[in-house]
Amino acid sequence: MKISKIEKEYLKKIKLFQEYNKYYYDKSDPKITDSEFDSLKKQIIELESKHKFLKSENSPSKSVGFKPSKNFKKVKHRTQMLSLSNAFNEEDLKNFEKKIRNFLSLTKDFEIEYSAEPKIDGISASLIYIKGKFVQGLSRGDGKEGEDITENLKTINDIPKNINEKNFPTEIDIRGEIFIQNDDFKKINEKFANPRNAASGSLRQKDPAVTSKIPLKFIAYTFGIAKEMNIKSQSAFLNNLKNWGFKVNEYNKNVKGIKNLIKNHQYLEKKRKEMNFDIDGIVYKINDFDLQKRLGYVTNAPRWAIAHKFSANSSISKIINIEIQVGRTGALTPVAKIQPVNIGGVIVSNATLHNEDEIVRKDIRVGDIATVERAGDVIPHVISVDLKKRKKNSKKFIFPTKCPSCGSKTVKDFNEITKKKDAVRRCSSEGFECDQIAKEKIKHFVSKEAFNIDGFGKKIVENFWELKLVKFPQDIFKLDYDKIRNLDGWGGLSTSNLKYAIDSKKKISLDKFIYSLGIRHIGQENAKLLARHLKSANNFFKLSLNKDADELKNIDGIGDTQIKSIINFFLNKTNENFLFELKKVLEITDTHQLNQSGLLKNKTFMFTGKLQNISRAEAKSLVEKNSGNIVSSVTKKLDYLVIGEKPTNRKVDQAKNLGVKIISQKEWADLLN
Ligand code: IVH
Repeated sequence: MKISKIEKEYLKKIKLFQEYNKYYYDKSDPKITDSEFDSLKKQIIELESKHKFLKSENSPSKSVGFKPSKNFKKVKHRTQMLSLSNAFNEEDLKNFEKKIRNFLSLTKDFEIEYSAEPKIDGISASLIYIKGKFVQGLSRGDGKEGEDITENLKTINDIPKNINEKNFPTEIDIRGEIFIQNDDFKKINEKFANPRNAASGSLRQKDPAVTSKIPLKFIAYTFGIAKEMNIKSQSAFLNNLKNWGFKVNEYNKNVKGIKNLIKNHQYLEKKRKEMNFDIDGIVYKINDFDLQKRLGYVTNAPRWAIAHKFSANSSISKIINIEIQVGRTGALTPVAKIQPVNIGGVIVSNATLHNEDEIVRKDIRVGDIATVERAGDVIPHVISVDLKKRKKNSKKFIFPTKCPSCGSKTVKDFNEITKKKDAVRRCSSEGFECDQIAKEKIKHFVSKEAFNIDGFGKKIVENFWELKLVKFPQDIFKLDYDKIRNLDGWGGLSTSNLKYAIDSKKKISLDKFIYSLGIRHIGQENAKLLARHLKSANNFFKLSLNKDADELKNIDGIGDTQIKSIINFFLNKTNENFLFELKKVLEITDTHQLNQSGLLKNKTFMFTGKLQNISRAEAKSLVEKNSGNIVSSVTKKLDYLVIGEKPTNRKVDQAKNLGVKIISQKEWADLLN
């Protein structure tokens, strides 16, 4: 065949491929079958390998592949994508409802209505519609910022591309779950451990044509921003979703009372096996949107919803060894190395034994036959061992009295609240002095929720540690890149990528900075409370020098345990140097107040006595929503002491002495209009 003829034929096929590719993006009108599409791709690739001069930007050889991509654009969610707290039993549910009743000051006879929705174990996504048109779709990401996966989402049939219903809001983010049905998964399962991984892998393909080959489904259940939406409850919203063309879960149900929640849970747990998709629990949401709004959020989960998990899967295996891991806070965690076993589709070879007390209580020994459980994202753990199957010569497990990493004595702290010794045994060294703790501290420092340094994973920390490239977190900002470039597995590009990733994280918010320090008892939530109170890095460093515990006593939510831990952290000489070095290289941004223009801006409040028709928690949350601050002791800095019924006299007297304004609940409500 003549060269020109070959080229002509090739280009014809490329054109056809492009056309069919387009149909795959919007599969409302597929023109050919999947196998015809595959055959066309194959023909093009064969032609290319036979005739090296054939090249096209639009060739499937340029874009189709099974490599997950890092290249999606990051986009901020217009409202955060929240997570849910979990309930495992009736007691957890009772506590959940009790907290809601207290917060809303509900009377006993008020029955709370829930929307109970099966929790599909898939990947959540947020779909932005403007004037009825699907314009952008984002993955959840870290909840604040997701990846732009619009083109991949467009290949999903269940996602409407245009909505013309009259009551569809002019702007709305529709949120729901992307998943793979079990029968579809069986057809493609050679690459993935479970349907959830398959859905995630498929969604993150760089080439939407690849995504379109794996039959993804979408079920809608909530929204982010919604402009001009006049809907009063979750169940009404779900009904509307159906009218707008979305799929909703057929097992969604309105339920009143804990007893009925449990009944529904038992029913669905049985039904679960018959369903064509994996569910790992049921989400309960307060049905009434007004009540949801009043309840609001705590950090990243709503007060008005909870996920009631199903009980776990378990299997039986042999304990080959018990190893001790040393964590970031010095805690010694025993881990059972077990004979690999398949639990609910995942191969498990490690199971946590939690702590020393747990081993003693369950008398767990090397060589035992154990029941191992795995539930959702929870780490697999040993439930019990079979004493009947135990060999006569088996020996009790002796917990080490010396840290396996640094040899320091191991200790059990005395807990002032429970008046008992902790269940956990710890390495008694002062943090960075123990190599294992130091390594874990560095891993924490670079982790997603802290400095979030792209590509700086746990393996790299281990590797750089062995090579003595990092000993303290601050060393990350002074890396010897010439040395790294010449290491095995590294090159010019990967080194400059790492440098870029590190340099771009030198600017950090105060709360993330505090969290990244890995102070014991200071998790993300407490770090946020501290940052909100301290406002600037300057104030934080000042506190690290003057170590003034009183300054911390005014922060609602920060208790004695946390205060003690923070002051201890500041007292350690190595930590002092660690902070000093970090201060030199970082730009730490001040905390923005959630709403800086509220009616109570810059004012501090304290409540004493019982309030009418509103709980203390809701009153505090109202103050914060309106930019005010809550303090927990009477000082000169307090602007208003709000008194309800039977106030604490001591507080009122202190306020009088210090000249603090004392106001009634009514006067406080007037301040809020
Ligand atoms: S509501 C309130 N409803 O569960 C905000 N989430 O742990 C939370 N999920 O990331 C979302 N089914 O991926 C909601 N009917 C449902 C859900 C559901 C599954 C997932 C979702 C979310 C996670 C929260």
